[in-house]
Amino acid sequence: MLRIIDVSHAYGTVPALSSISFDVHQGAMGVIGPNGSGKSTLLNIIAGAMKPQKGAIWWGGANLTTLPPHRIACRGISRMSQHSHISGDLTVSENISLGIYGFHGGLRLRWPPTTASLVREAAALCGIDSGRLTAYPRQLSFFEQRMTELARCIVSASTQLLLLDEPTAGFADLEKKRVFSILSTLKTKMTILLVEHDLDFIQEVSDCLAVMAEGKLLSIGEPAFVLKEPRVLDTYLGTKYVAG
Ligand SMILES: Nc1ncnc2c1ncn2[C@@H]1O[C@H](COP(=O)(O)OP(=O)(O)O)[C@@H](O)[C@H]1O
Ligand SMILES: [Mg+2]
Repeated sequence: MLRIIDVSHAYGTVPALSSISFDVHQGAMGVIGPNGSGKSTLLNIIAGAMKPQKGAIWWGGANLTTLPPHRIACRGISRMSQHSHISGDLTVSENISLGIYGFHGGLRLRWPPTTASLVREAAALCGIDSGRLTAYPRQLSFFEQRMTELARCIVSASTQLLLLDEPTAGFADLEKKRVFSILSTLKTKMTILLVEHDLDFIQEVSDCLAVMAEGKLLSIGEPAFVLKEPRVLDTYLGTKYVAG
């Protein structure tokens, strides 16, 4: 279980997170909230890309808060960030294999003998055709590029917690359906914490839903229930929510 305990963070004088606390159990937890509500900051803090100014992140009974990102990755936590990070100089297969070495010897740049089969399995799970493994990112559609990133996140077969920041942004409906099917399979193998704007998509894929607004946790619970709450509707209909 992931525990987010009283986490606060500000960029200079701009508060991004204010005393956020919640637990993430097995399955998929969705996170929604207007732009600027702190969703990406929270995922970056869980992955260790930045340290919170207050509070703690616990995972599997261990405090991650002071660990560097590669040590957090070694504990089975993998993140796909909001903005694409893929190397244009490497093939799809090589990009995916970058997700392996972190779990097999920390900073030791040696891939295990099973790398090729792990890459093929991860690519297949993420809907990437095996004929595309030798292609370069410039030859791929945006969908294939993002799915290459997703495959890199899960390729080690050690991933227990997958952090996804708007993985379907910019996708057509058909592509979203493919991601839905991919995540439905992945969530049987690992816990997923998913930031997403498409309310239909997140409601269908999530077992639990957290709503953030202005760096605070507005609501958390069963998706259908949370999405009917007046203060959540207000946030999405544009009426300003003022925390009471
Ligand atoms: N690198 C940064 N420097 C300064 N302010 C930032 C930075 N990243 C995010 N912020 C600010 O922190 C707040 C939360 O941002 P973010 O976590 O990206 O929200 P979300 O992902 O929900 O859109 C916003 O006010 C945003 O402008
Ligand atoms: Mg964001």
